[in-house]
Amino acid sequence: MDDPSTVVTPSPPQGAAPRRVLVTGGAGFIGSHVVSHLLLTCSQVRVLDDFSTGRIENLAEAMRRGLTASDVFRGDVRTAQAAEMIGRWRPDVVVHLAGQSSLPAARRSPLFDADVNILGTVNIADACVRGGVRLLVHAASSAVYGEPGPDSLPLGEDHPLAATNPYGISKAVGVHYLDWYRREHGLTYTALAFGNVYGPPPVHGGASVVALLTEALLDGRLPTIHGDGEQTRDFVHVVDVAAAVVRACQCPGAGLVNIATGRQTSINDLYRVARTVLGVEAEAHHVPHPHPLEVRRMALDTSKAMTHLGWHSTIGLTEGVRLTVEEARRRRFGYTAPEAATSGAVGGCRPLTSCQLARQPPP
Ligand SMILES: NC(=O)c1ccc[n+]([C@@H]2O[C@H](COP(=O)([O-])OP(=O)(O)OC[C@H]3O[C@@H](n4cnc5c(N)ncnc54)[C@H](O)[C@@H]3O)[C@@H](O)[C@H]2O)c1
Repeated sequence: MDDPSTVVTPSPPQGAAPRRVLVTGGAGFIGSHVVSHLLLTCSQVRVLDDFSTGRIENLAEAMRRGLTASDVFRGDVRTAQAAEMIGRWRPDVVVHLAGQSSLPAARRSPLFDADVNILGTVNIADACVRGGVRLLVHAASSAVYGEPGPDSLPLGEDHPLAATNPYGISKAVGVHYLDWYRREHGLTYTALAFGNVYGPPPVHGGASVVALLTEALLDGRLPTIHGDGEQTRDFVHVVDVAAAVVRACQCPGAGLVNIATGRQTSINDLYRVARTVLGVEAEAHHVPHPHPLEVRRMALDTSKAMTHLGWHSTIGLTEGVRLTVEEARRRRFGYTAPEAATSGAVGGCRPLTSCQLARQPPP
């Protein structure tokens, strides 16, 4: 299940760091890590986020690395103002991570999910074409592939896009649109199909199954596992994902590229790893799966990421869970997040005020 992180040292990416990068959804779980990584490459970085699930506190590390109040814009990727922002600032690369990121939420409201994930992506792609953006790096998902056939794991990018739930469908439609913009308007894009991304959860907002299990164990609660727990996913650490996005920004457009580990891990195995890391014996509580038709097995072939981006995952599952637990402990015992600095209605794209940013957690 866990393995030595690697076999071959990838060759460095071809291109130089882009001068200007706009990150939509930059205040979210993955986005905040991406922004922090990008700032180390000397790119000028701006964030566009509506703060629906993202939080300014998630950008604390990026602020320490030089992101300022005037680099962070509150706005909705579905609006004309978002498109205008791209036209005015003219970034070399747009990293489009803003999206409705929850599968349960997509099931509850397919309309909202499609609105944000499809219309938001079309609006950003359209603005990239009109604004002469060199490259659009987009957050797709393993959910675009649907249920793999019995002998097809790990899935390559040539697997049909046959999503079986609203979230996967909206993500797959986004990829189809990017490909249409490429053919029709010459848009260069890389759509990264992330596996299940885990790591220290954001200050507020959703949490991966890894965080949910470890948090329950830290609380002394009995964790709940849906179904028999033998369903598998390809778990990839958020730091590896951020590194992949940075690589994608420095490389030519590569179309759809899987970003994962190539390994499937069952929820039961994941739970065993979490128990070992935490040194506890508790059995999990199994409840009937609320969606028994959910994809049963998943693992993504990552050879294209290696050849096109020079990227492979470096953090094994045991190490990744250990890092997640360490961060959870640090937050519980060494740090308390302040109240969210951003709330209220979302308007056009405007920089956050310095007084809002002054409410960052202390470095
Ligand atoms: N976390 C995963 O396992 C995973 C897996 C595959 C794909 N993805 C995709 O990666 C991207 C980032 O996911 P995440 O886990 O960081 O989720 P997240 O919810 O933490 O981040 C999404 C960010 O987008 C912002 N946002 C949402 N709607 C917006 C809108 N209309 N306009 C502007 N900003 C908006 C949110 O405020 C948030 O900051 C999403 O597109 C998600 O679908 C995530």
